[in-house]
Amino acid sequence: MRLEISSFEYTDLMREHFRRPRNVVYSDVEEWNRRASGRGSIGSMLMGDSLRIWIVVEKDAAGEERITKLVWKSYGNPTVVAATSLMSELVTRGGGMTLEEALALTAEDLCDQLGINRSAAGAIVSHLALRDAIHDYFRRTGQNHRIRERLPQIVCDCLGVTDEEIEEEVKNGAMDFDLLQQATGVGTGCGACHELVCQLIEEYLEKYFY
Ligand code: FES
Repeated sequence: MRLEISSFEYTDLMREHFRRPRNVVYSDVEEWNRRASGRGSIGSMLMGDSLRIWIVVEKDAAGEERITKLVWKSYGNPTVVAATSLMSELVTRGGGMTLEEALALTAEDLCDQLGINRSAAGAIVSHLALRDAIHDYFRRTGQNHRIRERLPQIVCDCLGVTDEEIEEEVKNGAMDFDLLQQATGVGTGCGACHELVCQLIEEYLEKYFY
């Protein structure tokens, strides 16, 4: 929570979650490492968007696995903080989402609820960390058939654009960097991802069109 939030850039709900984040872990990380059913993490402290989350999964009376608790710790920017705080409430509300419901939650859902731009990188970080925690739960409980072989990776840290989104946009006709940038905003921050993005465009063009 080291960044200041300005008074005019964000919605009231986003400011509320940034100023009073819900379900944050402060010092009891070791306890949550022991207690959690699944752990997820994403990002790097160097890039300023590190997020770790812990989930507790319990079976309801019908034997359905539900997320009854989600706690988190972040060194991220205001969007990561607000999106993860909101997500921690959404996922555990009313007895908790089933794992399928939680996996179906998207970064766009979080942005819509916060009333912010749908491409906000922080919401993508929150959403990927949740998926990582659920897959960790699958691994710990031997449910390997439910594990997706590979989770999306963030390629552009500034905009939170993943390789999965780039692949989808290239498939839909974003066949060069400029078109992809118009579609996703990729590369409009520090520019460090430019070379990797171009490599991926080539790879997906090769895969789908040549
Ligand atoms: S990593 Fe900074 S613009 Fe992509």
